[in-house]
Amino acid sequence: MAEEAQSESNRSGATEEGESHVAEARGVYVMYQGCWLRPRAMQSVKLVQQHFKARPDDTLLATFPKCGTTWLKALAFTVTNRLDHAATSDTHPLLTRHPQDLVPFLEMPYRQLHPIADLEKLASPRLLATHIPITLLPPCVPNLGCRVVYLFRDPKDVLVSLWQFISKVRTEYTIDRAFDSFSEGMSPYGPIWEHSLGFWKKSMAESDTVLFLRYDEMMAEPVKHVKMLARFLRVPFTEQEVSRGVVEDVVHLCSFDKLRSIPVNSTGVTDRIGGVPMENSSYFRTGKVGDWANHLTEEMANKLDAIVEEKLRGSGLIF
Ligand code: A3P
Repeated sequence: MAEEAQSESNRSGATEEGESHVAEARGVYVMYQGCWLRPRAMQSVKLVQQHFKARPDDTLLATFPKCGTTWLKALAFTVTNRLDHAATSDTHPLLTRHPQDLVPFLEMPYRQLHPIADLEKLASPRLLATHIPITLLPPCVPNLGCRVVYLFRDPKDVLVSLWQFISKVRTEYTIDRAFDSFSEGMSPYGPIWEHSLGFWKKSMAESDTVLFLRYDEMMAEPVKHVKMLARFLRVPFTEQEVSRGVVEDVVHLCSFDKLRSIPVNSTGVTDRIGGVPMENSSYFRTGKVGDWANHLTEEMANKLDAIVEEKLRGSGLIF
């Protein structure tokens, strides 16, 4: 998504099926199968669609950018690897590796630069992540019954988080521009309402294959949600683990304050996208629910709420 940082000349016209290019004064996105993507991201998504070979025991952590992917990666990794790495261990991988690097994305680094065959080398069961909407995921994912954990967040907080993230590399990117674009649905992997609705509907129809989580609820009751996550991932906490405080240990290790303080997350620069180096610390900003109130005007907030409400109406998904 930090590909936003790169400027590109405007284009217009239609190309191959499912894909149309639009002239957009705030930057060019490509509409690919109903999803706004930067052109290089679209190429990568196409490669995933063509070449990703799912396995029945794969788990996908699916998020719209800035909904808490880093947190979900840390939690899912810690929960599923706790027999090899206790959350209290001095040698836990999260102490030396950024959570983003412990769970690879399907589509990043861009698959035109880093072949998707890299994912073939991973041992099963694989824990993978993606920003790709459910409608664009390769059919092998649902056909094989792969489990998906989706993390949803208030779109106003997502907008602010995304704007702040992009501003780190593109200082002229104002909140007004970010708001206009986002509320038109035009942001990486957008519109956010389509993205969330796709996973929401699937979770309603198939609760054993899609777990739909919410950032605000996880922040309010992390222990309850980590237990829920472990059950869904088929690695439930035992009674002994619960009584020994193992769930709280996981929550603590993966908490915003703890992760942000670890040098591998607070220093250095890494290119995880493909030609877009970002500070490792940029994935840890405030980690708060409702920070939008510090950046959006009341008018902006009401307008975005109204748009999202209208788009989600009748679905049962509220925010
Ligand atoms: P803010 O910018 O609102 O602080 P993603 O990981 O999908 O890029 O999302 C980034 C958002 O998740 C940022 O939100 C970031 O601060 C927050 N975040 C990162 N780690 C977190 C954690 N351990 N707990 C809660 N929020 C976290």
